[in-house]
Amino acid sequence: MEVYELHECYNCHKVGGKGSVKKRGPVLDNIGNLLTIEDIKKKIFDPTYLYAEGFEKEHKKGQMPDKYKELMTEEELAALAAYLSTLKNPAAETPKPVFVKTKIEHGFIVYGYVRDGGGKPVAGIEVQAKPLKEHAHAGSAKTNQEGYYEIFLHLHNEDSGTKITISAKNAQKDVVANYDPNDKVTKRQAAVDLVAS
Ligand code: HEC
Repeated sequence: MEVYELHECYNCHKVGGKGSVKKRGPVLDNIGNLLTIEDIKKKIFDPTYLYAEGFEKEHKKGQMPDKYKELMTEEELAALAAYLSTLKNPAAETPKPVFVKTKIEHGFIVYGYVRDGGGKPVAGIEVQAKPLKEHAHAGSAKTNQEGYYEIFLHLHNEDSGTKITISAKNAQKDVVANYDPNDKVTKRQAAVDLVAS
């Protein structure tokens, strides 16, 4: 409950009739009957993971902040999810969760490793992926302990053939996003490893 208060979830959610004067998000009083602790955790760290039924528009607009992963420790997350899982009031109008299946035809993933000249992983370095196409948004991610990164880009069926520039510090590589627009099963992705000093 403390974590819930600290991170001001009440700005958009109601619990026990309190909070969310502007009614931006769903009432959470029955969330413990609808989601497991694991799924609550996932939703908080990645709001795109699922959405509350009837809130498709708010979900698409990304109204639930995508910042808790940066602001909360794993411990806080566990405590918050444990608290929410105790909210089991079947009389409350907490909407059913709808799980989002990643739509293959909506994106392209660039992933790989960044290593130094000696082959050691470079951790915590920012990697950028920029589609060379008008109005396309660049994506970025930081490498983990193993030097691994993964960047999701919004590329659609008609974008097959787009060149993407991947860069980290002084390293840069190009890759062409080639895929069959009619194939909605095979993951659309390219592996790009970089050597950065
Ligand atoms: C700026 C508004 C806003 C804030 C702040 C916010 N949320 Fe949300 N949240 C929403 C909206 C809007 C939805 C419904 C759309 C969706 O599911 O993405 C939602 C959905 C949810 C759901 C799914 C509910 C269901 O019935 O499936 C959970 C769980 C949730 N939020 C938990 C939290 C927690 C915990 C916090 C604080 C760490 C928080 N939210 C902060 C706006 C917000």
